[in-house]
Amino acid sequence: MNIPIKIAGLGFQVPKTVITNDDLTKIIDTSDEWIRTRTGIERRHVLSGNESAVEMGIGAAKKALEKAKINVEDIDYIIAAASLGTHIYPSSACEIQAAIGAVNAACFDITAACSGLIYGMGISRSLIKSGMAKNVLVVATDAVSRCLDWTDRASCVLFGDGAGAMVLTVSDDDQDDILSIDLKAEGHLGDFIKMPTPGKNCPLVEPNEEPKMYVKMDGKEVYKYVVTKLPVYIEECVAKSGLKMNEIDYLVPHQANMRIIEALEKRLEFNPENVISNIKDYANTSAASIPIALVEAIESGKMKLPCSAILTGFGAGMTVGTTVVRLREGIA
Ligand code: ACO
Repeated sequence: MNIPIKIAGLGFQVPKTVITNDDLTKIIDTSDEWIRTRTGIERRHVLSGNESAVEMGIGAAKKALEKAKINVEDIDYIIAAASLGTHIYPSSACEIQAAIGAVNAACFDITAACSGLIYGMGISRSLIKSGMAKNVLVVATDAVSRCLDWTDRASCVLFGDGAGAMVLTVSDDDQDDILSIDLKAEGHLGDFIKMPTPGKNCPLVEPNEEPKMYVKMDGKEVYKYVVTKLPVYIEECVAKSGLKMNEIDYLVPHQANMRIIEALEKRLEFNPENVISNIKDYANTSAASIPIALVEAIESGKMKLPCSAILTGFGAGMTVGTTVVRLREGIA
C-alpha cells in the first residue's frame, strides 16, 4: 500500500542579534562591498548569551506544530539536523523532545550539514511509507557562529545562525506532497568543508594536539563542485517527479552564495522571480537555510500556495539533497 505524505507545517526562528558587514570590519580586514559582491550577504543573525541551536530549534518546532495542528503527543519521531547542538549527547532531538513534551517520540540527530533538512525529509518519508510512523518532526538547526574562526575572513563572513522545522504526516487525501527525493554523498570530497571534534588522548598514551573546533572551507572547490554537479542532480530528481522543469513553480536552494544561486537559476532556465533567496538578511544558516527561506517567502507573499517547488541543499560531506514537493495552503 502506498501511503501518501503530507507536508503539514513549517516554522523558523533566528536569534535577535544582527551583525552587519560593516560591523565585521571592526574585527577583520574586509568590507561591505567585498562581502556583498562576492556573496550577496548584507547581515546575519548570531547567537548571544545562553541562546543555542536547541533553543532556536524548540521555537521553530512549536511554530511548525501549530501550523500542522498536530498534538505534540502524536509525534512518533523527532529528527534533528543539527551539526552543533548544545551537547554531542543527549542529542538535540532528545533535548527538543523534552522541551516540547513529545513524550511518545523516538529521537535522533543526523549530520548532513546544509543538506540536513532534505536528508531529514528523506528519512521521514521512509518512516511514514513503511508504516513505522504517522507524524515526524524534522528540526534543522545550526549554530555555526559558535564554531567559526572569527579571525579567518574567508569563512567567518559567510555564516549565520538559525533554525527551521517541518512536520510530515500521513496525507488525509490522496495527494503525495513529496513527488521525488534524491540524497547523495561524496565522502571523497570531505576535505572541502571540515570541522574537527575536540578531544585529548588519555594521559597514559602518546599525547595528541587537541584540534581547534573551527570550520575550514575551500570555498573555490565548493563553488566549482556545486555549480557543476548540483544542476545535474536537480535535473535527475525533477525527471523522477513526473513534472517538467518548466512546470515547477519555485526553486528554493540552500542559501550559501548569491552567485551560486544565480548560476543555478541560469543553468536550469528558471524565472528569477521564482527563485527564492534571502541570503542578504541571514547569510548561510546551514541546515536551516531552506526552511527559513521557505517560510519567509510564504509569509511575505513571494511564494503563493498551493504550489510546486524544488528544494535543494548541499554541504559538508559533501552531501547533496534534492526534492520536488507540493506545498499546500496554510502550512506557514
Ligand atoms: N574580505 C575581503 N577579502 C577577502 C575576504 C573577505 N571577507 N575573504 C577572502 N578575501 C580575499 C582573499 O584573501 C583573496 O585575496 P588575494 O587575491 O589577495 O589572495 C581574494 O579575496 C579572493 O579570494 P577567493 O577565495 O578567491 O574569493 P572567491 O571569489 O572564491 O570567493 C567565497 C570566496 C565567497 C567563499 C566563494 O568561493 C564561495 O562562496 N564559495 C562557496 C562556499 C559555499 O557555498 N559554502 C557552502 C557550504 S557551507 C557548509 O556546508 C557548512
